[in-house]
Amino acid sequence: MRDLSRNEALVSRAQRVIPGGMWGHQNAASLPPGYPQYFSHAKGCHLWDVDGNRYVDFVCSWGPIILGHCHEAVDEAARAQAARGDCLNGPGAVMVELAELFVATIAHADWVQFKKNGNDATTSAVTIARAGTGRRKILVARGSYHGSAPWCSPSVLGVTAEDRAHIIAFEYNDSESLARAAEQAKGDLAGIIVTAFRHDIGRDQELPDPEFARRARGICDEEEAALIVDDVRAGFRLHTGGSWETLGVRPDLSSWSKAISNGYALAALTGNERFRAPAAAVFSTGSFWTAAVAMAASVATIRALLRDDAVAHMTRLGERLRGGLDALSRRHGIAIRQTGPVQMPMLLIADDPDCRKGFAFCSAAIEQGVYFHPTHNMFLSAAHTEADIDQALEAAAHGFRAVQALHALAAE
Ligand SMILES: Cc1ncc(COP(=O)(O)O)c(C=O)c1O
Repeated sequence: MRDLSRNEALVSRAQRVIPGGMWGHQNAASLPPGYPQYFSHAKGCHLWDVDGNRYVDFVCSWGPIILGHCHEAVDEAARAQAARGDCLNGPGAVMVELAELFVATIAHADWVQFKKNGNDATTSAVTIARAGTGRRKILVARGSYHGSAPWCSPSVLGVTAEDRAHIIAFEYNDSESLARAAEQAKGDLAGIIVTAFRHDIGRDQELPDPEFARRARGICDEEEAALIVDDVRAGFRLHTGGSWETLGVRPDLSSWSKAISNGYALAALTGNERFRAPAAAVFSTGSFWTAAVAMAASVATIRALLRDDAVAHMTRLGERLRGGLDALSRRHGIAIRQTGPVQMPMLLIADDPDCRKGFAFCSAAIEQGVYFHPTHNMFLSAAHTEADIDQALEAAAHGFRAVQALHALAAE
């Protein structure tokens, strides 16, 4: 058993001074037994908790780490900018360099604005869609996560009906449901916001059906509304030009964050010519939105992603992990479902409505030094190697044996 005593001491101190000990999905209390809350350092795809236990990381800080933790070129660019200044009276010259790189890299983008969190980028997209169309209704897929603002939070605590008065739900990948929602909004449709693929927590992932994506584009064209792709989570892991490039469907607006600067706090909203004027007109800012260090980190991140073809690397290793997990699950007689893009692996165990099996699997794996997630999609990075995947598969074998033990108990 790993020692987690320092972690436990911090958890109990935090209970007194932080409501609930920790906020959001990062609260380790919602993870399987044995997951640490506090970490001391990380390098590449390895992560150490405050008690010194090392893990192969398949959560990658919930997406931001795409090149690996503490990537040398990115950190060097950040350090060089920090020595010149970060939070100034306005942006550094690096903002223009980064904006040019975004516009050159992302296929639909004629312009970009920078922000801090994904939530800033999705909320700005909705505001600019409304400003540009002069309409109010936004269509949102039921269960999709776009952030924690009142218009989109999965929690309704503290949210008023007015906050969501102009939000209409549809089912992801269901063109008819989308068309019905658009009909309901007829004459007042500002936009459709849709995640790059269906990556809702606790359920099988779904790649976007090309027909659904084309229908969304068609509705927005007919109604002169904005098609918004929320690429906050998937951005740069599926395609560096934008996740819907492989479908041949381009959004009007797209939200980015997480992986764009390999762990430095930055978000972006990209748009086409149609929405340039409303983007310039809407008042939108934040005290730290011009901070230069994250922008320098982002320039270095995007250059490294393009130079090293990180998407191909993550895809190759993701296939190795998926194939290995499939083979192991068959060998242990445990039915599983693996869905979504291999670079963002999702593993659910069959017949597991309360997730007891998923938790047992993950608790056994973390004991072996591999940090999986039982209900959320996971993330690969350019720093994972074949040896890391093989270590993950060895840990997964322990996980499958833990599930076998649960089956044996249930059969008694
Ligand atoms: C698809 C998507 N949109 C928006 C957000 C919100 O981003 P942030 O947590 O940086 O505000 C997230 C965060 O997980 C996300 O996955």
